[in-house]
Amino acid sequence: MAKIIYIEFNGTEHTVDASPGETLMTVAVRNNILGIAGDCGENCACATCHLYVGDLSEGAADRA
Ligand code: FES
Repeated sequence: MAKIIYIEFNGTEHTVDASPGETLMTVAVRNNILGIAGDCGENCACATCHLYVGDLSEGAADRA
């Protein structure tokens, strides 16, 4: 089990659990993360799951 932290455009953070093999989109949709709709079912066509991944060398792993 992993912890994923989603940060909305307004700074609101959501820490949720993810299982091995799950995509960030499916975890977000399952947890009702605002702005990630997954409309095309992971076919890279709708861009509703556009994410920015922060620099993991800046202590992100320590927050897990
Ligand atoms: S569900 Fe990811 S781009 Fe459409």
